[in-house]
Amino acid sequence: MINKEAKTKYEILTLLKKRWSPRAFADKPVEKEKLLLLLEAARWSPSASNLQPWIFFVGIKGDEVYAKIMNTLVEFNQMWAPNAPVLILNCGKLTVRDENVPNGTWQYDVGQAVAYMSIQAMEEGIYVHQMSGFDALKAADLFALPENVRAVSVSAVGYPGDPDMLHPRMQKSEIAGRERKEMDTFVFSENFGLVSGIVK
Ligand SMILES: Cc1cc2nc3c(=O)[nH]c(=O)nc-3n(C[C@H](O)[C@H](O)[C@H](O)COP(=O)(O)O)c2cc1C
Repeated sequence: MINKEAKTKYEILTLLKKRWSPRAFADKPVEKEKLLLLLEAARWSPSASNLQPWIFFVGIKGDEVYAKIMNTLVEFNQMWAPNAPVLILNCGKLTVRDENVPNGTWQYDVGQAVAYMSIQAMEEGIYVHQMSGFDALKAADLFALPENVRAVSVSAVGYPGDPDMLHPRMQKSEIAGRERKEMDTFVFSENFGLVSGIVK
């Protein structure tokens, strides 16, 4: 198993260090109880006014939901996503309840619920690879989404697999170390761009 653990400056939670986005997945189904744990984690994510605007379509390899989600992916993602035993289409409700009032944080809240899901997954040894490379309009059509519901992203979910299964183009990044920007590029004080003393 390749070591993709984040080389952090400070000791963060092990689950956060270990999480990463694989493209190779083992040929092993994700147990229903585990999937329910992931969805339960998403369910307990915070959201503005507790509106919980998330909606998930869960596709299991071999079923129609999986095939429809796969159909929405861009070509690059279609090269590796079939390795995953589960695909989830992450959607959100744009309005406050079913009223005509827009919910300004729907997308933020859906993203956070997916983040919760990915951390719970890590606790179970399961990896979540999020994708925005998909056709949201096609998803809306295929899943008959109402006007006030939009598709945000797709998650590939499964146990990690052997990088050798990947197209050579993808093998390099699969085994490469993980990189992040330094804190002094995004932690500011007083004015935009003025690096905060905390991180100096
Ligand atoms: C919103 C979002 C969209 C992404 N879209 C894609 C995608 O379409 N295809 C892909 O292969 N990876 C995609 N990724 C994965 C990112 O490339 C990956 O999270 C990033 O390189 C950091 O790597 P890590 O998750 O392994 O730490 C996406 C991630 C996020 C959060």
